[in-house]
Amino acid sequence: MCGIAGYVGYKVATPFVLDCLQKLEYRGYDSAGIAFTQNDSLCRLRVLGGVDNLKRAVSQDVIDSSVMIGHTRWATHGRVSVENAHPQMSNHHDVAVVHNGIIENFDNLKAELQSTGVTFESQTDTEIIPNMIHNNLTGYTDTQILDALQKTTRRLQGSFALCVLVSKVDKIFATARFSPLLFVKSDYGFMVASDLGALPNGEKYKLLDDYFAVISKEGISFFDKDMQPVTLQKLDITNTQQDEGHLGFDSYMAKEVSQGGDAIRNTCKNLIESNALDIACTELFTHTFRIVITACGTALHAGRILGYMLQKECGIECVIDYASEFRYFPPHIDEETVCIFISQSGETADTLSCVEFAKTKQARTLGITNVPTSRLAGMVDYCILSSAGAERAVASTKVLMAQLAIIYMLVQKICKILNKSCEFSFKDILDCANKLDRLKSVSKLDKITRILQHKQSLFVLGRGLDYLTALEGALKIKEVSYIHCEALPLGELKHGSLALFNNDSYCIVLMTQKHLMAKTINNIHEITTRGAHVILITNMDVSVDVDYVIKIDCQDTLSPIPAIKVLQILALKLAKIKKIDVDKPRNLAKSVTVE
Ligand code: M6R
Repeated sequence: MCGIAGYVGYKVATPFVLDCLQKLEYRGYDSAGIAFTQNDSLCRLRVLGGVDNLKRAVSQDVIDSSVMIGHTRWATHGRVSVENAHPQMSNHHDVAVVHNGIIENFDNLKAELQSTGVTFESQTDTEIIPNMIHNNLTGYTDTQILDALQKTTRRLQGSFALCVLVSKVDKIFATARFSPLLFVKSDYGFMVASDLGALPNGEKYKLLDDYFAVISKEGISFFDKDMQPVTLQKLDITNTQQDEGHLGFDSYMAKEVSQGGDAIRNTCKNLIESNALDIACTELFTHTFRIVITACGTALHAGRILGYMLQKECGIECVIDYASEFRYFPPHIDEETVCIFISQSGETADTLSCVEFAKTKQARTLGITNVPTSRLAGMVDYCILSSAGAERAVASTKVLMAQLAIIYMLVQKICKILNKSCEFSFKDILDCANKLDRLKSVSKLDKITRILQHKQSLFVLGRGLDYLTALEGALKIKEVSYIHCEALPLGELKHGSLALFNNDSYCIVLMTQKHLMAKTINNIHEITTRGAHVILITNMDVSVDVDYVIKIDCQDTLSPIPAIKVLQILALKLAKIKKIDVDKPRNLAKSVTVE
């Protein structure tokens, strides 16, 4: 949540910082701002809305500073307003701070500052930080400023990535705890940002927890927890997170939905070339009695499908739960448990806190992520990377396809280790990915979209594996179309929800499991008898009396792949017809780095 960026160099900083912020916008886009040094003083510009608004505001001014920090916000503390936008400044306007994260003890620290006469213009948790730094400053050398910063961060509880400017000092001071901060030494100057993909080419570094950095025109210096100068290891990875733009599509989401097949193929190819999957499987699943899977949102839906497959195909007991609920209903975890964490970003706070919990119980840990430099990748015993490329839209689409590829390959390998037969082959997974490309535009969906756009509520229904697909379809529809959409197991309808149905109700029913066909058809009759309408997504040739049938071509076990793509396309179309910016749905951010 929130993106931060900074530049120091010999060029005008504005284009570098704004470009970087624009690439970070998926982390939050309710307000944006910059602070820079100019004529020995600290200046600041903040606007409501996204980086385009900031660009417009910047173009009204002459800003030729070569030292700048910037921020794009997702509000946690304090409503969306200019006063709550970052950078936040000290009362004396001599320290400016951009912050990503949450300061959990800010109330106490704020009261303490207020008792000494400090006043606050925002409701943010951040505004305490520049004021504390100001109070701790004993002078303007690097050592004195770093010392003030360290004295401040020692008192902070929670998570933070911070970039700090101090007036009359042409440098950026930075530190982080439980929140990513990456640096680049490029041909144009030195930069810092919340994500690797937002940075230009050059030598890249990632800051460790409670380490510090000073960026000057001469270079970047790093310091450890004891403030000793250190050399950080250059990141030795090809940047898989480079932003490739819309590639001719009208949104990132549209482009990313279309890339689902590539995401599966690339992930399979890279898993075969590296032996990460083989090693993890042999080490973790030869003697495994229990598996615990946690994640959030779409990644959790991938996790539910993994759990279903592991139980059904491999016969291993699985517990699957929301990462945010996990600690309230902690399952039994010990050294014989394998805990699996799935996260596109690898930075989701709830998921990471579950990793920490699992480690305290000596569980063996496996992470599945799309970002090799992420915190998750560094925390788990074994990490399997999806190769979907950078996903920029808030709604996760192509990365889910890559996660499904990993899940199916993982299940296959475990079946092999356990000497069990598996219902699908590697070739089946690739065939499924190839068919996905041909599913570009499902023609009936235009007509369906025109009807559904006016609905206030929709249902996505299925049994067994289809119910898991329904969960993801409903999430996608509500998150980008703002239509309330509920996923339910079909058999549950008559235990309550059927009371809502009348001739204005619309249900999307999934029927891809042959062994559940008869029961599913009975449920469809129960729905249509109440006058409600049914849109059926199926891989079977059946004649059922419904409003629309959308055919997908796949074997039963792999059906989540094409069925979810159909629902992704429907979500996109609904958002488009309702003129919603799919890449920036209201109230959301892509990387949820606070609990
Ligand atoms: O980065 P993660 O996979 O950990 O993110 C988890 C969820 O926040 C994410 O999947 C969210 O639900 C998406 N917006 C869904 O499209």
